[in-house]
Amino acid sequence: MKLENKISIITGAASGIGKATAILFGEEGSTVVVADIDMEGARKTADEMREKGGRAFPVKVDLSDIGDIQSTVLDIKEKFGDIHILVNNAGVFSKVQIQDMTEEEWDRVMDINLKGAFFLSKEVLPMMIKQQYGKIVNVSSLSAKRGGFTSGVNYGVSKAGLISVTKYMANFGGRYGINVNAIVPGFVDTEMFQNHPEEKKKAVIKSIPIGRIARKEEIAKAIMFLSSEDSSYITGEILDINGGVLMD
Ligand SMILES: NC(=O)c1ccc[n+]([C@@H]2O[C@H](COP(=O)([O-])OP(=O)(O)OC[C@H]3O[C@@H](n4cnc5c(N)ncnc54)[C@H](O)[C@@H]3O)[C@@H](O)[C@H]2O)c1
Repeated sequence: MKLENKISIITGAASGIGKATAILFGEEGSTVVVADIDMEGARKTADEMREKGGRAFPVKVDLSDIGDIQSTVLDIKEKFGDIHILVNNAGVFSKVQIQDMTEEEWDRVMDINLKGAFFLSKEVLPMMIKQQYGKIVNVSSLSAKRGGFTSGVNYGVSKAGLISVTKYMANFGGRYGINVNAIVPGFVDTEMFQNHPEEKKKAVIKSIPIGRIARKEEIAKAIMFLSSEDSSYITGEILDINGGVLMD
């Protein structure tokens, strides 16, 4: 198993990509802290993982609240010991366009997608430095590179910021045995995508060379690769997973 004896935190694992990743991590031997603001969903993910023989613990955290991040990490450390792997997957979408953008809406998305991911990484880092071992995978988005599709500018900016955080932390973490990478999914079969208007969805699929959107499990496998020893010499990588819709 690729993640035997590893303790992981996966944020946003109550649903979608995070849930698929948690299930895969459980199958590969990792103990998974299923961290989400949606405790009911986190419990369901943990139950599903346990049914498949995995070790899972649901934990409630609000990533927009730095105080909550700090106390949650202390709790996790006390219960499970030092963390080996952190997947910053939780995120919120915004459809609000320029004329309707408010400071509140800007901050809502930035606080969870960017600030939350950075401050959680900051709290987990000392444990990784102590172990001289760690893997951090940040979940960005194609919107970061394309400036949005139907998303608001705040969403793309938050995900572009996450790419910069990834490179900064990869520079910092390298000497301590910590790999920091990001994935950049295109269109994935989740609620986030299915909520787009039918016409938009058809146009999107037509534009993808592989001819379909991604399955959540295909994204989870890339996160697994970057969390395992298979990618031991990869850091600061920004990995596109988009069926060829953007080749850069
Ligand atoms: N679905 C796509 O097409 C797509 C494409 C590119 C990138 N992404 C990114 O992938 C990640 C997962 O997306 P998904 O489609 O699985 O979405 P999702 O909505 O199914 O999952 C997001 C999770 O984040 C949690 N969350 C929201 N606010 C939180 C907070 N304040 N504190 C803690 N947890 C919080 C939610 O409860 C939810 O469980 C997101 O970062 C998203 O931006 C998704």
